Amino acid sequence: MITIISGTNRKNSISKQVALQYQEILAERGVESTLVDLEKLPVDFISSALYENQGTNIDFNPIRDHMKEAQKFVFIVPEYNGSFPGILKTFLDALEFPGTLKGKKCALVGLSSGIQGGVMAMSHLTDIFNYLGMHVLALKPKLIRINGKMENSKIADDSYLKRLKDQADAIIEF
Ligand SMILES: Cc1cc2nc3c(=O)[nH]c(=O)nc-3n(C[C@H](O)[C@H](O)[C@H](O)COP(=O)(O)O)c2cc1C
Repeated sequence: MITIISGTNRKNSISKQVALQYQEILAERGVESTLVDLEKLPVDFISSALYENQGTNIDFNPIRDHMKEAQKFVFIVPEYNGSFPGILKTFLDALEFPGTLKGKKCALVGLSSGIQGGVMAMSHLTDIFNYLGMHVLALKPKLIRINGKMENSKIADDSYLKRLKDQADAIIEF
């Protein structure tokens, strides 16, 4: 069982489309997955799920508990302002510390409309995950100029798909 996190709450994001396609790739390999979609965070998440309110938001708690129980993750990471989205950091800040991610394993997929493919975003996130004690798969696809590679809400480029499939095989074995 793998938990896929769509790393932005932007509506109609490409990250969400890639997350759904990644689920299909895992299903083709007989691996079950669940999707944590940051677009579905409760509207009052920032005001009532952080700091002194940790663990008290009844709409966020099932997501928080799911993250505690899950052992393996794939983070779909869009590049926002040369890094990963602030909402993803806020989401991480709302998880139980230190137990949620310590000793677990994850893979990262970077995507951008520009030419970096989230390379710095994934580097920043790798530092944070390693700080939290989570092992990050070294194979990190950088999907540059992603907007031009999408058709009907799916990646239509064979080389991009191959990179995702190679990574899926690797995270299953990781
Ligand atoms: C707030 C914000 C900041 C962004 N910053 C960058 C950036 O620094 N570099 C880049 O190539 N694309 C940037 N983009 C474009 C995203 O990479 C692009 O929207 C891509 O589709 C992935 O994001 P999405 O999952 O929100 O669709 C930015 C988009 C937003 C909404």
